[in-house]
Amino acid sequence: MCGIVGYVGARPSQDILIAGLARLEYRGYDSAGIAVITDDGALEMRKRAGKLKVLRDDLAAHPLTAGNTGIGHTRWATHGGPTDENAHPHLGDDGKLALIHNGIIENFAELRDELAGQGYTFKSETDSEVAALLLGREYRELGDMLAAFRAVAGRLEGAFTLIAVHEDLPGVVLGARRNSPLVIGLGEGENFLGSDVAAFIEHTHLAMAIGQDQIVQMTADAVVVTDFEGNPVDTTSFEVMWDASASEKGGWSSFMAKEIAEQPEAVANTVRGRVRDGAVVIPELDGLDDLLLGISRIVIVACGTASYAGLVGKYAIETWSRVPVELDLAHEFRYRAPVIGPDTLVVSISQSGETMDTLMAVKYAREQGAKTLSICNTQGATIPRESDAVVYTHAGPEVAVASTKAFIAQMTALYVFALHLGRVRGVLDPADAAVHVQELESIPAKIQRVLDEEQAHVEQLAHWMADTRAVLFLGRHVGYPVSLEGALKLKELAYIHAEGFAAGELKHGPIALIEPGQPVFVLVPSPRESPLLHSKIVSNIQEIRARGARVIVIAEEGDAAVLPYADEVLRVPLTGPMFEPLLAVVPLQIFAMALATAKGLDVDQPRNLAKSVTVE
Ligand code: F6R
Repeated sequence: MCGIVGYVGARPSQDILIAGLARLEYRGYDSAGIAVITDDGALEMRKRAGKLKVLRDDLAAHPLTAGNTGIGHTRWATHGGPTDENAHPHLGDDGKLALIHNGIIENFAELRDELAGQGYTFKSETDSEVAALLLGREYRELGDMLAAFRAVAGRLEGAFTLIAVHEDLPGVVLGARRNSPLVIGLGEGENFLGSDVAAFIEHTHLAMAIGQDQIVQMTADAVVVTDFEGNPVDTTSFEVMWDASASEKGGWSSFMAKEIAEQPEAVANTVRGRVRDGAVVIPELDGLDDLLLGISRIVIVACGTASYAGLVGKYAIETWSRVPVELDLAHEFRYRAPVIGPDTLVVSISQSGETMDTLMAVKYAREQGAKTLSICNTQGATIPRESDAVVYTHAGPEVAVASTKAFIAQMTALYVFALHLGRVRGVLDPADAAVHVQELESIPAKIQRVLDEEQAHVEQLAHWMADTRAVLFLGRHVGYPVSLEGALKLKELAYIHAEGFAAGELKHGPIALIEPGQPVFVLVPSPRESPLLHSKIVSNIQEIRARGARVIVIAEEGDAAVLPYADEVLRVPLTGPMFEPLLAVVPLQIFAMALATAKGLDVDQPRNLAKSVTVE
């Protein structure tokens, strides 16, 4: 968590840092701060608890002295609450250096005791201040800032991105990373650092990822990257594919509203370039047929919404490629001694590509000899770099903290991967594959229809239900993960207790929750495509209806069988049974967003959350 930005160049750094932090605020928003080396060569710092606006207003009223070198931070608290003191940057003991940190320093207690034993005192409760004090001490001992920075990076355990500035080095920003993101933005006569490219996208599209255990020394004209021992390392730059406007709200009421509306495009972009003569061929997987033929099973690892996409992927991969698939929550995976080896493909799914639980699962899989494939939305992120192969989702930047278009794009990438795998393994009939591809290509227009035809209806429903205290969601087959996602969206956006269940499971216990008036959303599969599942779920609806539930169904256009048992019917177009989640989740996203809005909540930055969870 936490967003980091650094700048060195010819322009005043304060506004550049604040604008960069505004684009990174999704990573954490409980406090923020900046430090600048002023034109007089002094270090000035300002940091404030609360959202970035508090700092911005403070700086507008009392700006720092101008300076062209600076660093900034927006925080998601781990060690110590969101206070001014715990906000970053943290200073060295002589006040001449400022350091900011993202991640968790696992040996911080040991380091703090060591420093305390030498007479150092602490102003904050954070693990990060330890790194700042240590850096000051090492600099005094070694007399060389870069050597001191390397020494500190080598002493820390856990996950960290560190960036620092010192009065003695006015045009220099230093950065280091381990298990936590840091990207360089390469400008002309100026350079940038950011937790992701959003931090500097309005200034440059040319970026360079810093690898694991590497250090960068950045000036206005040069970036020098080494390992922690100071040996030079190879670097490659890349062009950022999206534009600054993609991470701006435009005229939308919220990023979430914008991102829900962008879902047709997210699907189309994720399919684009991956269909050849009616078959799916993923160019990124060229040359990997032997790998795909050599596996006997797949384990999907992911967290939260991405794991629900993974569950949809399990159904699709098993159906179309006949490779057995297991799904693991990434944070459970390596702690349960999973049986994996060279014949296992571990597929990780992560929008950010930085989720620590998922990253650690991928690393563990590699240590066990498994092959790894990353499905990721963020170019140059850590998880794809740590994987044997990557299939990018092309949802564009997702800024709202709760995932919407990334979920849709993750499911799309998994469908595409399943069709690719079925073709490579020769188990998917080409004619059937062509039908699936055609259906997938028709999805963007169908999502658009759901948006056009159901949005107002769903918003009205949410408005009526603004006082609701608990909501249940039921689905079968691929409708089950959608029910989980519907419940998660409602919990995180509207702070309402919500649960998703496999509809068949209800009678084994949860049906006891049903009391008169209890709202229950039911995802109804197509009666034409899945008659058996359809009749089962109609029975499930009757069971809850008989106990007084208020039933809201999401059903295919023209499905009349649900009408006698439904209080509300939300319609989605007919699609292939495997693709139903791409349509059915849309009303649930709108519902959660609208209900949160009706309650006066901030849908882009729900309480206690951060977009990128870089702690385990
Ligand atoms: C929920 C949500 C989270 C993420 C999860 C994984 O709306 O956004 O559950 O899906 O934290 O994040 P990524 O995909 O970045 O690994």
